[in-house]
Amino acid sequence: MKGWIHMNVIIIAGSNHKGATSTRLSEYVSSLITAQGHQSSVFNLYERPLPFYSPDGEYGSTESISELQKVMRAADAIVLATPEYHSSISGVLKNALDHLGQDYFRGKVVLSMSSAGGAVGTSSLQQLQAIVRNLHGINLPEWVSIGGAQRNWFMEPHTDHEGAGSDILDRVKRVTLSFLELASRVRAN
Ligand SMILES: Cc1cc2nc3c(=O)[nH]c(=O)nc-3n(C[C@H](O)[C@H](O)[C@H](O)COP(=O)(O)O)c2cc1C
Repeated sequence: MKGWIHMNVIIIAGSNHKGATSTRLSEYVSSLITAQGHQSSVFNLYERPLPFYSPDGEYGSTESISELQKVMRAADAIVLATPEYHSSISGVLKNALDHLGQDYFRGKVVLSMSSAGGAVGTSSLQQLQAIVRNLHGINLPEWVSIGGAQRNWFMEPHTDHEGAGSDILDRVKRVTLSFLELASRVRAN
């Protein structure tokens, strides 16, 4: 395909909850990215917990931090997924971002995603995009919010999908393609 560039996309799943819908959403987006011929992996903060960031650098050499920094450095583009907690992002995601810095984000396109108990969770997304801007990442103008019954699509099998229109899956696909298009344009330059 003309202009096609192979990319490596890292997705940080920012929940500390085993059955998190934001993590299932991350896995779904990862599968959409690999279906487009790109490489994608999910760094799941529930499975790979990070110690609290300390400016003193006391935890600078733990395996989980080194692994996160390694995959982030190798990434061409980034997806950040968070549960909506008190109209903000999760503590574990904020902590992970504190372990990183501009060197990991500069010039890379970032897609922000959230899962909320309410119908839509944009407060966390606003704040996430403010953090990305501070990290010198390039915010995709679109974002993904799943909320309320839409989360049923991203729960464990046997969940009742009643009231959860499948249009959210179409939106996730559309935004993922838009993300890949902008990321490949930026990568090409
Ligand atoms: C501490 C806490 C705070 C929450 N705050 C909000 C909130 O401000 N707005 C909202 O819509 N849902 C809120 N929720 C509900 C979560 O957003 C909801 O359970 C979401 O699905 C969590 O994402 P997860 O499935 O990835 O864990 C909160 C849940 C918890 C545990």
